[in-house]
Amino acid sequence: MTESPRGWGVTPSTGIPTIAFGNQKGGTGKTTATINSAAALASRDHDVLAIDMDPQADMTKGLGLGPGDDNDPSSPKNDLPNTLATDDANLLDVLVDNPRTDDTTLSEIMIHSDEYEHLNFDLVPSHKDMGLARDWMDDAGARLSLKVALEELVDDGYDYDFILIDCPPDLSVLTDAAFIAAQNVFLAAQTQATSRDALDDLWDQLESIEDNQQIEIAIVGLLANMYRDDGQSQKFLDAFDESYASLAPIFKLPMRVAIQRAWDNGCDIFEWEDANDQQVERDLFLEVAETMERAFDKTQVEV
Ligand SMILES: Nc1ncnc2c1ncn2[C@@H]1O[C@H](COP(=O)(O)OP(=O)(O)O)[C@@H](O)[C@H]1O
Ligand SMILES: [Mg+2]
Repeated sequence: MTESPRGWGVTPSTGIPTIAFGNQKGGTGKTTATINSAAALASRDHDVLAIDMDPQADMTKGLGLGPGDDNDPSSPKNDLPNTLATDDANLLDVLVDNPRTDDTTLSEIMIHSDEYEHLNFDLVPSHKDMGLARDWMDDAGARLSLKVALEELVDDGYDYDFILIDCPPDLSVLTDAAFIAAQNVFLAAQTQATSRDALDDLWDQLESIEDNQQIEIAIVGLLANMYRDDGQSQKFLDAFDESYASLAPIFKLPMRVAIQRAWDNGCDIFEWEDANDQQVERDLFLEVAETMERAFDKTQVEV
């Protein structure tokens, strides 16, 4: 891991360190990294808000806030509401200038962890309506909508140590809104040659947002996911090192059964226990959490 100086993250207008997990490719580990980084920060006593900006709602479902598990009525997740198909106001109502739900705020749609034993951090869930974002969020103001919503949340008295945003696998208006609100990006990429091009495109997108919005965006880390001890992975890491190593620490996560099993059971890696040892995965995400503390010069909370 490359060491960076303390405090290289950008603190946005809310004053709360906010990090968007991005890569327009699907299946690179964005949602895995968001859930487990949030859980790691929470295990270090930080108050965390996670926001699911992906219409596919993998994080929302993965945390048990989708349809219940009919196969397992004893699942601890069954006490969690299904937020995906509710007729109540949802995240899209917060983000669009919709006269019907003009004043919907994040605080109204948020799920609070202190009400549910199973949740370790607060969550703004996704919703099936988020698929309509492209049609509704078509003006320049839409790109600022999440930033404005987070400013309102703080004005309402909410105070978090960290806000983590799970982005969709695209470079859509939702992803732009997440990058603008966060001003910090954690990249998740598979260590393959094709990943390099995707990251270059993402980099161009970030530069164009910086120019258009006149803001600074920091890279706070890269998850080199499904890392293998082979030439392909090493080639990716060398290329990445060359361009970005001075900017952000790199975390190598191999293919791990426990990551997949935890996911399949709707758990983060800190909750999940099976016969195998989960310490490798936990240590990695604790290291990610420590890096985030360092990036924003936050006092570390001893565990
Ligand atoms: N290191 C890993 N080892 C095993 N499975 C992984 C690993 N990283 C991600 N996965 C699995 O791969 C799938 C895609 O990951 P996900 O985090 O949803 O990617 P994205 O959000 O970028 O689309 C999920 O089923 C997840 O559990
Ligand atoms: Mg995802």
